[in-house]
Amino acid sequence: MRNVIFTAPFPMETTMLFARALRGLSNIRLLGLFQQAPQGADRALFDDIVTVPNAMDPAMIVRGARYLQEQYGEIHRLLGILEDLQVQVAIAREELGIYGPSVEVTQNFRDKARMKAVFRQHGLPCAASRTVTSAADAYALAEEVGYPLILKPPAGAGSRATYKVEDRAQLDQALAEVRPGPGRTMLAEEFLAGREFTYETVSIGGTPVFESIGRYYPGPLDVVRNDWMQWIVVLPRDISSPEYNDAREAGRKAIKALGLCEGMTHMEWFRRPDGSMAIGEIAARPPGAQIVKLMSYAHDQSLHRAWARAVVDREHDGPFERRYAVGIAFLRGTGRGRVARIDGLDEAQKKMGHLVVETQLPKVGMPKAGGYEGEGFAIVRHPDTTVVEQAVLDLVRTVKIRYA
Ligand SMILES: Nc1ncnc2c1ncn2[C@@H]1O[C@H](COP(=O)(O)OP(=O)(O)O)[C@@H](O)[C@H]1O
Ligand SMILES: [Mg+2]
Repeated sequence: MRNVIFTAPFPMETTMLFARALRGLSNIRLLGLFQQAPQGADRALFDDIVTVPNAMDPAMIVRGARYLQEQYGEIHRLLGILEDLQVQVAIAREELGIYGPSVEVTQNFRDKARMKAVFRQHGLPCAASRTVTSAADAYALAEEVGYPLILKPPAGAGSRATYKVEDRAQLDQALAEVRPGPGRTMLAEEFLAGREFTYETVSIGGTPVFESIGRYYPGPLDVVRNDWMQWIVVLPRDISSPEYNDAREAGRKAIKALGLCEGMTHMEWFRRPDGSMAIGEIAARPPGAQIVKLMSYAHDQSLHRAWARAVVDREHDGPFERRYAVGIAFLRGTGRGRVARIDGLDEAQKKMGHLVVETQLPKVGMPKAGGYEGEGFAIVRHPDTTVVEQAVLDLVRTVKIRYA
């Protein structure tokens, strides 16, 4: 019996899908390490659970894992899927001598300045950038590459505290808001114009055994900055065409260069108007934005399970055939307050209903979520990519959330 610890601060629905996949593996004892323990059916996934007051604190992760080790013996894996948890879990793994990505590797993926340094060493394309601890640092990059610039935290997530500045005045305003200093490092980057895509893998021994590509309409930062936009992600059916060769190659090399062996990865990349590509960032964890589900729908396979098989068993059940294009439309509207009404559902059902495979509709009374994922979503699929693209565009044009 192999002891596998799954850790997360809170038993969020999307998080628990990974616990469920672990439960489906053979020959494992599933142990939970949480801040807030799951309840009901989610609780029943685990053979045992410990709770700690702060599940983001490596010392507490170590304490909880050690307690489980005392009860059940050697720990085979210690796993967490959240972006903010990667380094912490690695610290705990090193302390306890558990197999998995090292602190150094997780920092390569978490610290965007460091990630870029590795990219440059390996000749991988990325935005020009500079660590900013003073206004002068930011001015220096502006001097070098011109405007627009991006100013962002070196280890952010969800486009938080990310600024696009068009000129010196806007840069000064952003600098006044974030006040970079020795203890408040920011990252300034050349603005990558063009279309934004993703590249996901399941990797074993540093090599992808499963790959997927997705496209964002538009990029997350645009969606955050414009609250009338409803975000769309489309996974095209055919990703074997040469137009993706450079991104796929860059992605494969990035995983090797940063040093990940087993795991799911999520890269964001840009196609510039001149045709060239650049990596935005890459994470050593499953993607958010329901992309794991989208990949599952595209292949009629559970990618949650593929993740679990890779990180625990170091095995893959593929190759998986990509049978469908899949798209997701995140539902949100303009205004403030709570969801008062959802218009256009009947019309959408009539037009796109046959393509919809899953929906999570906003509930009347829900507070506005604020983030680019809105208050709900609809997932569509079809073998033809253009049908899916059209359907998600139609969806966001038809379904309107009103707040009051
Ligand atoms: N250098 C850049 N050029 C253009 N857009 C960028 C750049 N950096 C970030 N963005 C935009 O901001 C979003 C969030 O930035 P990212 O580096 O991915 O941080 P996060 O960790 O918050 O996802 C990106 O998805 C992209 O839309
Ligand atoms: Mg990102």
